Amino acid sequence: MTLAPLIDPFARAISYLRVSVTDRCDFRCTYCMTEHMTFLPKAELLTLEELDRLCSTFVGLGVEKLRITGGEPLVRKGIMTFFQGMARHLETGALKELTLTTNGSQLRKYAADLAAVGVKRINVSLDTLDDQKFAEITRWGRLAQVLDGIAAAQEAGLKIKINTVALKGFNEEELFTLTDWCARQGFDLTFIEVMPMGDMGEAQRVDQYWPLKDLRAQLASRYTLTDLPDRTGGPARYVRLAETGQRIGFITPLTHNFCESCNRVRLTCTGELYMCLGQEDMADLRAPLRASPDDAQLRQAIRAAIARKPKGHDFDYSRQVVKGQMTRHMSHTGG
Ligand code: GTP
Ligand code: 5AD
Ligand code: SF4
Repeated sequence: MTLAPLIDPFARAISYLRVSVTDRCDFRCTYCMTEHMTFLPKAELLTLEELDRLCSTFVGLGVEKLRITGGEPLVRKGIMTFFQGMARHLETGALKELTLTTNGSQLRKYAADLAAVGVKRINVSLDTLDDQKFAEITRWGRLAQVLDGIAAAQEAGLKIKINTVALKGFNEEELFTLTDWCARQGFDLTFIEVMPMGDMGEAQRVDQYWPLKDLRAQLASRYTLTDLPDRTGGPARYVRLAETGQRIGFITPLTHNFCESCNRVRLTCTGELYMCLGQEDMADLRAPLRASPDDAQLRQAIRAAIARKPKGHDFDYSRQVVKGQMTRHMSHTGG
């Protein structure tokens, strides 16, 4: 049965689903979580079978790229069973890419299994290469464990992209250290502007905000940058550094809005569908999922949700005031 694809009111085709399989994490990054977060009771989570059914329904509606996120996706119990299930859509060709965004802490344990089910490349969040600073920003993390996880991913043949949140007064002086390290390892590197997700105090966000146009200008003082047409299906825009040959990406929700080409929606571990990372509106898919073993009702709920996908987010830090603040934390929707 061929079903009509998901097209939103702005004629954008929805082909990318990000799925947060848990809101929990083994780190407490200061820009992402408070130290004492309360997490959802386990009983509220969708089961792995329910997540499988939901994702498979999206694949049936034309989703070609599935990114598993969290919290930290690899702390969800039994997560490899879920990946193994999704691999069947890679085999049929319905799914073009199955991947994840991880903090890297559990990669030593899972990298080989991920490669075995057909994951080709992964995104690892890493904001600093300094032990002390890593401990400070993640509160609970250990850099050595993450670097070892990254090494395991390399050994397993996974391609790696490092995601670094650009934080003023924190990793500014590491711009070249991080760039050089990624060049040596053969990793892509993407910088992200810090977004006002979760209530962490307005002052902190504005103080932390390091516009990527400034970061880019600093890079250009040492390297020759050429804009690339490359698209990975995500919001990053890439440049090539002539001197090292490496690719650097910029995710700029604040300085350059990329919403006009948005192709994605986000599913949480309780079955909420967020049509935009930067808006509060969501649709509950758990009720239609549980209402009937037939997927018709679920598909209808998905279509109804896509029909109200907003034009974009309202994040804005101009005039030193945070606008477009979201109450929910990034770990809720998975970034
Ligand atoms: P690639 O497949 O490698 O292009 O991945 P991606 O950039 O889509 O995914 P990744 O998990 O690496 O995303 C990095 C970060 O970019 C996310 O954690 C978010 O912070 C941000 N991001 C991704 N998509 C959106 C979006 O639609 N809107 C906004 N505002 N930020 C986004
Ligand atoms: N702004 C930008 N990026 C964030 N991340 C978490 N919180 C924020 C925020 N407020 C990033 C993480 C990770 C990805 C999932 O989202 O560092 O790379
Ligand atoms: Fe965990 Fe990622 Fe949030 Fe850090 S940014 S606390 S690693 S979910």
